[in-house]
Amino acid sequence: MGWYKSLVLPVVRWIDAETAHGLAICALKNNLVPRDDDALDATPILETEVFGRKFANPVGLAAGFDKNAEVPNQALSHGFGFIEIGSVTPEPQPGNPKPRLFRLYSDRAVINRMGFNNEGAAVVAERLRKRARKGILGANLGKNKYSEDAAADYVKGVAALGPYADYLVVNVSSPNTPGLRALQGRGPLEKLLTSVLSARDIHAKGVPVLLKVAPDLTEEDKADIAAVVLKLRLDGMIVSNTTIDRPVGLNSYDQDEKGGLSGPPLMEPSTKVLADFYRLTEGKIPLIGVGGIASGKDAYEKILNGASLVQLYSALVYHGLELVTEIKEDLARRLRKDGFASVADAVGAAYPEISGRKAPVDEARAAKAAVKAKAEPAKAEVAKAAPAAKTAAKTAAKKPASKPAAAKSKAVPKAGPTE
Ligand SMILES: Cc1cc2nc3c(=O)[nH]c(=O)nc-3n(C[C@H](O)[C@H](O)[C@H](O)COP(=O)(O)O)c2cc1C
Repeated sequence: MGWYKSLVLPVVRWIDAETAHGLAICALKNNLVPRDDDALDATPILETEVFGRKFANPVGLAAGFDKNAEVPNQALSHGFGFIEIGSVTPEPQPGNPKPRLFRLYSDRAVINRMGFNNEGAAVVAERLRKRARKGILGANLGKNKYSEDAAADYVKGVAALGPYADYLVVNVSSPNTPGLRALQGRGPLEKLLTSVLSARDIHAKGVPVLLKVAPDLTEEDKADIAAVVLKLRLDGMIVSNTTIDRPVGLNSYDQDEKGGLSGPPLMEPSTKVLADFYRLTEGKIPLIGVGGIASGKDAYEKILNGASLVQLYSALVYHGLELVTEIKEDLARRLRKDGFASVADAVGAAYPEISGRKAPVDEARAAKAAVKAKAEPAKAEVAKAAPAAKTAAKTAAKKPASKPAAAKSKAVPKAGPTE
């Protein structure tokens, strides 16, 4: 057991979750968090290029941990391939009343209803301006709670933070800002993203713009979002934010707290939505897979289901930053074992008909999972023949409601509620 689990977690357990988070930021700021000796070792098989940016590895820190860009370089020094700051709103705002962050210990999960508490775009931009630029930094943008013109807020965010970011994120998926997720509807989304892209061309030319979506989307929502993303040629998507759903089987005392759930219970539903977007965008849009990653296996599963990069947050609460190195080592082992030469080679390998990847070893496994999901005897026969793996995966692709191929997770995927 590492130092975090044996020394820190037993103490942190007794501290309120938000205070513990503040202490973590403070410890990072003062370089008090022990670092793995091999945290920054280069691993060629993990190096990857996505939306024109070069990543030392595909494992990133998700938005919400460093909302105000207080410790981006310190976080990078623990071995992340990239970090995302924010969400940042144009004006500073306090967020929701406390308590608003809950650890679900038995489920290794988190519920939060922070409500975009942050110091505002001007303060964060100034911090980023002074930062020694290294690694890849994404800036996640939100809107102020009481702002009536959402598009104007995101445009302000692009203008303030775009010049200091390697990519920008339009976050319309937090469950904790009233009305925010309605911006995922086809009409409002197209209007919003068109404004953001124009602002990007003025204030931050060439900086990729990504859209971060919720996991709680109907089939129609997903098709609409994919159509807009393809039409506007967005640079990428982040799938997904926290869920307002409460999957069956949660064991923790605080499971009924209002807010977004993250951590392992989100792994399966968010991976399903990821696979759905991979198919709906036909592999043409780079995807960042986030939601429930707590191991190299989880990260690999996101990649096979279409993620070019992955992110995590909640698992760090229970495993500490040591987990980053563990995930990278395990991911590299899995890629080598399945005969992939790089991360990029494995992206979407569960769907060879889209990715065009050979998927040397995994092909059979992906096909098997796809067939199992549909349990049609005729198709099962087809899948038994090795060259037919492609056909089987195609079958899965045509059934968006079925379990994603290669996603060998614990429970039957459960669709999130309609918003
Ligand atoms: C305390 C907390 C705060 C978060 N704040 C934000 C945020 O400001 N903006 C955002 O896009 N996502 C935010 N997220 C969502 C994460 O970026 C991520 O999408 C989600 O937690 C799923 O990943 P995980 O299961 O690895 O935590 C937050 C998550 C947590 C737990």
